[in-house]
Amino acid sequence: MSKAWSNRFDKSLDPFIEQFNSSINFDKNLIIEDLDCSIAHARMLGINQIISVKESEIIINGLNEIKNEYLKGEFLPCFPSEDIHYCIEEKLINLIGDLGKKLHTGRSRNDQVGTDLRLWLRKKIDEIIDLIIDLQKALLSLADKNLYTLIPGYTHLQRAQPLSFAHHLLAYIEMLQRDIDRLHDVRDRVNISPLGAAALAGTKIKIDRFVTAKELGFKDIYKNSLDAVSDRDFAVEFVAASSLIMTHLSRLSEEIILWVTDEFSFATLTDKCATGSSLMPQKKNPDVPELIRGKTGRVFGHLQALLTIIKGLPLAYNKDFQEDKEPIFDTVKTVADCLKAMNILIKDGLIIEKENLLRSVEEDFSNSTDLADYLVSKNVPFREAYQTVGSIVKLCLSRKKLLKDLSLAEFQNFNEKFEEDIFEKITPRNVVDSRNSIGGTGFEQVSLQLTSWKSKLLN
Ligand code: ARG
Repeated sequence: MSKAWSNRFDKSLDPFIEQFNSSINFDKNLIIEDLDCSIAHARMLGINQIISVKESEIIINGLNEIKNEYLKGEFLPCFPSEDIHYCIEEKLINLIGDLGKKLHTGRSRNDQVGTDLRLWLRKKIDEIIDLIIDLQKALLSLADKNLYTLIPGYTHLQRAQPLSFAHHLLAYIEMLQRDIDRLHDVRDRVNISPLGAAALAGTKIKIDRFVTAKELGFKDIYKNSLDAVSDRDFAVEFVAASSLIMTHLSRLSEEIILWVTDEFSFATLTDKCATGSSLMPQKKNPDVPELIRGKTGRVFGHLQALLTIIKGLPLAYNKDFQEDKEPIFDTVKTVADCLKAMNILIKDGLIIEKENLLRSVEEDFSNSTDLADYLVSKNVPFREAYQTVGSIVKLCLSRKKLLKDLSLAEFQNFNEKFEEDIFEKITPRNVVDSRNSIGGTGFEQVSLQLTSWKSKLLN
């Protein structure tokens, strides 16, 4: 196939190198954005009388026809086109004849590919934000049903203090909110037009960069043409923000994997989200959270890949940039798929074993701090109270008893300020309820958080 640039050369490209050089197999993803970018450019060429308005209309109609054909499945971009930009240009020339050759006036594939990628990513960021909101809603609905469900809280994966299960779930809603905020922030920097920077230096053709930027919905234009075609910061930022989304999903996955073990038994997987083993008939495996946890690795890998691709590149465009697309595309797919899967898992995949949860907080020493706090309320200095309770726990361990199993007299042996109400104060429910500091797990605080998230997410 003759190339747009073939007059400059005597021989054709080595067939393997032709494949090696080509990006059409993946950058065909950008077809709609490439067409929109070209439509905006063609319109601007007409408005600025670089081509006639009539010519601009014919080109735009041709591009729209290509879009329709593509959407109807009648046009499939493919090799031997080198990339989506040439592919569309060739197709346009086939369709409307030599006039199609005027489209590329005053631009380069370098500003074109940057524009396409930003348009594509801007749309995908909006879709990912919506998926995060869906997951927040699923978590909120589960939290709302579990305000009074108690769950052991851990530090060092050792029982620490009991929690409202809703409080635990709300923590993930908060993390996801930061993920949304970060995506909005990235979106602002994605939403800047490089179009009109041309190859690297701008152009002597009297283009109007603001006209194309406005038509494509960009908030601003790049001020420096070299920076415009060389900047991939936005891609790194997006994949970094995505890495944090995956980190949050992976931590939640890890917790769910623990919860559904026989050892924890805090939840059971429904058949919708569990798979069996090929060998062991008793197994019900948590493949969904395991896959999410596992897929986190590839997104981290894409971040590393992008940083490495960019780090040694002299200004301006280098073909290395062609390697930016697959990491970006795969990050979007992975994050979107994992958000959808986690949403299904939270909505339909888990049965919360409330009885087991309650039993678990009743059978541990996670109310020890409350014993110390009790003495503090009777004017005992905290450090002294802490030591006293340490001795009480030691006694209980040696006698295989829990705190609640001691008699009042036994408590009073350690400190005479203990009174009958101590038993009431260390029930798990009261222990949770009493942590009413702002942001704490006390039911009043958690109710406030639930109400505030409901008004934010459900209106
Ligand atoms: N397929 C190329 C890419 O993705 C398009 C830009 C090519 N520009 C160039 N000067 N060779 O980066």
